[in-house]
Amino acid sequence: MPPRTAVRPRRRLPLIVTSDDDLLDDLLRLAAAGGAEVEVAADPAAARSRWTPAPLVLVGGDQAQGCLRARLPRRSRLVLVGRSGAGDPGWEVAELIGAEHVAMLPAAEPWIVDQFAESVPPHTTNAGRVVAVLGGRGGAGASVFAGGLAVTAARARLRTLLVDADPLGGGLDLVLGWEQLAGLRWPALTDADGRVDPPALVQALPNRGDLVVLSWDRGDLLPLPAPAMAATLDAARRGRDLVVVDLPRQLDDAAVIALQAADQAFVIVPAELRATAAATRVVAAAAPHCATLSVVVRGPAPGRLKATEVARSLGLPLAGTLRPESAIPRGLERGEAPAAAGRGPLAALCQRIVADLTGRRHAEGDAA
Ligand SMILES: Nc1ncnc2c1ncn2[C@@H]1O[C@H](COP(=O)(O)OP(=O)(O)O)[C@@H](O)[C@H]1O
Ligand SMILES: [Mg+2]
Repeated sequence: MPPRTAVRPRRRLPLIVTSDDDLLDDLLRLAAAGGAEVEVAADPAAARSRWTPAPLVLVGGDQAQGCLRARLPRRSRLVLVGRSGAGDPGWEVAELIGAEHVAMLPAAEPWIVDQFAESVPPHTTNAGRVVAVLGGRGGAGASVFAGGLAVTAARARLRTLLVDADPLGGGLDLVLGWEQLAGLRWPALTDADGRVDPPALVQALPNRGDLVVLSWDRGDLLPLPAPAMAATLDAARRGRDLVVVDLPRQLDDAAVIALQAADQAFVIVPAELRATAAATRVVAAAAPHCATLSVVVRGPAPGRLKATEVARSLGLPLAGTLRPESAIPRGLERGEAPAAAGRGPLAALCQRIVADLTGRRHAEGDAA
């Protein structure tokens, strides 16, 4: 079998021992959701040299007897993985090979993701960055800005998740022109406890290229459970490079969690007196939860209000300004995602912000 992942000699990676291709596919998916690279051995002979150094070993039910016969040394963090309905779960052999757990798929998927995530040493985690976006008033351009950031990041080949945390926002999938795209939306993703299954998150959401979107469906208005937001961000940080969260102006518990998790937060404020007054209240509610809040001022400025004056009156740093772009409202009506062409004031500001946050420059010659 060809190697499924690059083997890096000095890094100690979790080891999967199986020659069952379906099981391997499932485990590789769960490893990806946990942000872990892994090594794969088809049988105990191939596993032997990596058995002891690996921080975690998962043995497929197909190889359990073989591992027992091969007399591989006892070790901690050894898990036997089986599949529900596939007969004997192998409790006996699990004990004989010294497995600490028998994990049955699919029920144990979230647990296995956690095991993979915990196996990644802290200094090698490449946790995704989280950006939160708020509007200073209704129609400020927050959702368009959030969409522009996400589109720009994906164009720079960053694995990006755009999260619509505003139940009344009209749907971020619409901002991207994605409402017809198949995939899960919030209501299907949260069960009664508000839990999110991390592998489902990365696998089952609408996606195009490097961009994945978690948005609303057109069904009943539902609150966004705070635990669902926490679990989503947790899973996304592991599996994505950048997470952009479009927040409601009226902060709910889920929004507060996102603000607290954010590496950077932006409030978008039109360059108008009344918008600045409204934004004062939004900022007063948001700032206590986020030390990195800064303002993006959007033109036009009918009263010639300067961006620096808006920022000063809000008591926030000025992150950037946006000149009005008539192509944006026109594009939205046609289902074109903001900043998709990589040109114009919005695209330029988003490119600067994404580069500052992630160190990744916009891919040259990538204009759509
Ligand atoms: N950068 C921009 N240039 C021109 N028009 C914009 C821009 N951003 C947003 N708009 C217009 O403002 C409207 C509201 O934007 P939206 O992002 O939905 O606001 P919010 O999410 O803050 O309520 C959009 O439908 C679009 O017509
Ligand atoms: Mg919005």
